[in-house]
Amino acid sequence: MTRIDSAESAGGRLGAVLSAPRTGVHALGTHGPWLATTPAVAREVLTDPARFDFPSDVSRTGDLSGSTGDTRSGHLVFAPLDPAQVALGRATFVREWADAVRDHDRARPGQPYDALDLLRRPVARATTAAATPALAPAERDAVGDAVLDWIDALGPVIAARRPPGRWSRLRRREARARTHLEDLLASLDAVERPAETATFLAAGIQVPIAAGAFLLAHLASHPTGAVDPVSAVWETLRLTPPTWMTARITREEVALGGTTVPAGSVVMVSPLLLGRLEDLVPGGPAPLGDFEPTRWEGPRRPGAWLPFGAGPHACPGRTLGLAVLTEVATWGVEREMVLSERVRIDQSRGISPRPCRFTATTRTEPSA
Ligand code: HEM
Repeated sequence: MTRIDSAESAGGRLGAVLSAPRTGVHALGTHGPWLATTPAVAREVLTDPARFDFPSDVSRTGDLSGSTGDTRSGHLVFAPLDPAQVALGRATFVREWADAVRDHDRARPGQPYDALDLLRRPVARATTAAATPALAPAERDAVGDAVLDWIDALGPVIAARRPPGRWSRLRRREARARTHLEDLLASLDAVERPAETATFLAAGIQVPIAAGAFLLAHLASHPTGAVDPVSAVWETLRLTPPTWMTARITREEVALGGTTVPAGSVVMVSPLLLGRLEDLVPGGPAPLGDFEPTRWEGPRRPGAWLPFGAGPHACPGRTLGLAVLTEVATWGVEREMVLSERVRIDQSRGISPRPCRFTATTRTEPSA
């Protein structure tokens, strides 16, 4: 059967992180960056902004969800979405997902779906609706499209081996896309802080698209039939958390996990690594690298590996993210999905499954 590659076999930066000894803090190079390898140290790093500062550079963190523009020491924090915003985002996703599937089936009947493409518009519109509920639907759609353009332009900047120069073609394209988005937001009376809203939207769109595609890839790799959608969501966020790495900078020399880390060092926290620690995950017979949603059917609560972060910069869109992913999982378990080719883990920007194409037919028997 065609399957998704495991993070264990992916090599590259993922391999380096997964092979780190679980001793507390591990230096990935001679002078760092440093990696928190136990849950206690990871929490300490994420929850103490007085010692661990938030990095400022949006475009070089490797992940948009680590971004708050220029607020490195200001520590701008975003309020979590409220229940009404989540409900609006979820309803928008359900409608837009049905439209996206229907449009595909009309235009290319029987052809494979591309998970990353299929999720783009539904996720963009769901997040935009939730984050800016006062906008008229047409305004929201225009904003959602502008965020997607900015995310697309930012991709090659993040993926470049060396930071592209300020006046390079890539940087200029990215700056144009961001300016267009901010100008559009500034022209809308209902939006109070355009730059912050742009950052919020980008973080809340790119990551759930990758998470949803991983979820579909895992479900298609393991067509076991009876799967609880919510358990499948958590198991996906454990094995392939799209924000697999977040970073902080030490403000001073710190004693961390028995090691002295100098001031100005990068300290990383990896939900991907933490999600493979035996004491955080119920084992059962399945190895920790296997996709096994049933492990979450017991009394153990998921999430101790921090797929949504922790502390003042924890994900403000967590509830919407889980709601959207549950909708995707419910759609998936109702179908017989077959991957069209092997799915690899792309590490150029956070992690995402690429290519991620599959066919899906409605199951004749109920799956659960
Ligand atoms: C499956 C979905 C999602 C996952 C796995 C996820 C994961 C994360 C993680 C791990 C962080 C913390 C990064 C850090 O500590 O550096 C984060 C931050 C953030 N997320 Fe999410 N996220 C998801 C969905 C969303 C959604 C739907 C929204 C918006 C509606 C959103 C908006 C944000 C924002 C604005 C931040 C930055 C918070 C800050 O810097 O203070 N995320 N997310």
